[in-house]
Amino acid sequence: NDIPVITVDGPGGSGKGTVTQMLARKLGWHLLDSGAIYRLTALAAVRQGVALDDEAGLVRMAAALDVAFEPTPAGEPAKVLLAGEDVTSEIRTEACGNNASRIAVMQPVRDALLQRQRDFRKAPGLVADGRDMGTVVFPEAPVKIFLTASAEERARRRFSQLMAAGVDVSIDTLLEEIRARDERDTNRSAAPLKPADDAQVIDSTGLSIEEVLDRCVAAAGQT
Ligand code: C5P
Repeated sequence: NDIPVITVDGPGGSGKGTVTQMLARKLGWHLLDSGAIYRLTALAAVRQGVALDDEAGLVRMAAALDVAFEPTPAGEPAKVLLAGEDVTSEIRTEACGNNASRIAVMQPVRDALLQRQRDFRKAPGLVADGRDMGTVVFPEAPVKIFLTASAEERARRRFSQLMAAGVDVSIDTLLEEIRARDERDTNRSAAPLKPADDAQVIDSTGLSIEEVLDRCVAAAGQT
């Protein structure tokens, strides 16, 4: 498969979501939001009453998952559909993110979602956003970026987002959740969060989104 892929991995709140969306638009490439796939799996489990530690049940459900990403006008994130229903905002809650991270520790669940993610690789190219895009899903990608930021900065960003959305939370609670999720994502044995050996690491602490995008474009070189 010689369709080019740029992988962007990193912890939640590093700016990955916004930057990969802008990068894909700028290049005219497809976008894989792999976190959304884990979130959708977690949401479907809760809805269907599959326990979050029922590995076999989760695998069966993941294999049959009916998900779709519907493009929206430029500048807006894609609409996320679960069995035809718009769940775009529902999958963005902290609870859904935490549930996603709980099921994401199971290797069989990850295996069940692997091919689904690889299928996003279509011409003219793919920007892949996640935790293990460069290490597991697209290990042969010519351009790999690992985007990070301090936990404090990520908590502040998340806080502003939630405030803007009218959600009342404390920054300390957010920081705690971010640390707990980092810990789980980094220390799991199945595809732990870490830069690929050939990834370029970009620390977005103190950078604007435009500055981060510029660095990613520079990292992507001529592609
Ligand atoms: O990136 P996002 O916050 O949407 O991801 C939600 C959770 O899904 C992460 O905390 C992580 O545990 C899991 N995930 C993963 N591998 C990916 C993307 C997300 O394990 N490629």
